[in-house]
Amino acid sequence: MRIYLDNNATTAIHPAVLDELFAAEQTLFGNASSIHEEGQRARRAIESAREQVASLIGAGAREIVFTSGGTESNNAALAGLVLGGRGSCHFVTTVIEHPSVLEPLRALEAMGHELTRIGCDRSGVVDPAAVIAAMRPATRGVAVMFANNESGAIQPVAEIGQVCRERGIHFHCDAVQAGGRVPIDVTALGADTLSLSAHKMHGPKGIGALFVRSGTELAPLLRGGAQERRRRAGTESVPLAVAFGAAARIARSEPESERISALRERLERAVLERLPAASVNASGARRLPNTSSFLFRGCDGEALVIAFDLEGIAISTGSACSSGRVEPSRVLIEMGLSEEDARSSVRISLSRFTTADEIDRVVASLEKLVSRNTRVVAAGTRGA
Ligand SMILES: Cc1ncc(COP(=O)(O)O)c(C=O)c1O
Repeated sequence: MRIYLDNNATTAIHPAVLDELFAAEQTLFGNASSIHEEGQRARRAIESAREQVASLIGAGAREIVFTSGGTESNNAALAGLVLGGRGSCHFVTTVIEHPSVLEPLRALEAMGHELTRIGCDRSGVVDPAAVIAAMRPATRGVAVMFANNESGAIQPVAEIGQVCRERGIHFHCDAVQAGGRVPIDVTALGADTLSLSAHKMHGPKGIGALFVRSGTELAPLLRGGAQERRRRAGTESVPLAVAFGAAARIARSEPESERISALRERLERAVLERLPAASVNASGARRLPNTSSFLFRGCDGEALVIAFDLEGIAISTGSACSSGRVEPSRVLIEMGLSEEDARSSVRISLSRFTTADEIDRVVASLEKLVSRNTRVVAAGTRGA
């Protein structure tokens, strides 16, 4: 049996979610905008799913807009702030955001809007005071992620959100990695918009949500029909919405974060005991319960991921592959790691399906494979 520990990339669909997805595909084929019985059944199913997603983050159902995923939610929130047309704006974000936040902001910058990017500390955490100090009277929006996908570091979003609210600045929070893994309360967070993605919480790919606080002015990215209260045009996918609702319900009613966190501790403790030269990136930060980013100095992270794959275990380097070349993790470099150390890091991300046996198998493999893929520094050569 293979062991899947790359849950920050995506998660396996929960069997109960899959059952609801199949059932909805079979029975809920109506267009939710149609007035006949089939349409109305589809409408009721979508609205019930919307309530389930809203409950996960303490929002009202009317504040949830279904999208195609986290990337669309982030693009819609950021582009929506300028599409209304108000002249040139200023935005504040952080260097550790996901590309689906950084790239739309970079595009806005190229269009003449201003952008301030705030760095992070060695633990991968952004200083809220630096974000607050960067805000200006002309600041239209601030975008800070809830938790980082590579390090797992949780950001001080409530402090930032509170100041944004006091100053009437739009606060966007990318909570794609946090959704279903740690409690989220949009009111406590002070978020005006917040992104979620179903496939990071054992739901299907192809659906996400954008929370939009009631009364928030946000121009739609997709225009056309009047679906989603005119915030996102296009015929809704009822089965995907139903499945997302089921995933949100399971995440809320059967929280697993304590068990997952205990397994993560078991993993980190065992690795640090058996491989004393290893360290955990962002260990000084409050982290997502499921994420460990390990640095095995001198070890080739990419080779380690491949060696693990051959042993039947899926982990990740957390790096981006661009034009055929694997780049070292941008986030780890921003945290102050050298390029070499970033290339020697791997990410192991657990899920509600991870077992203690699997963790023990991973530790045993790590001990064997790390030494095999580590350069012997003194001799300047690779180990056997
Ligand atoms: C922090 C973060 N934001 C956004 C996304 C994009 O989400 P999606 O894959 O649903 O487009 C990801 C995906 O990895 C992510 O980790």
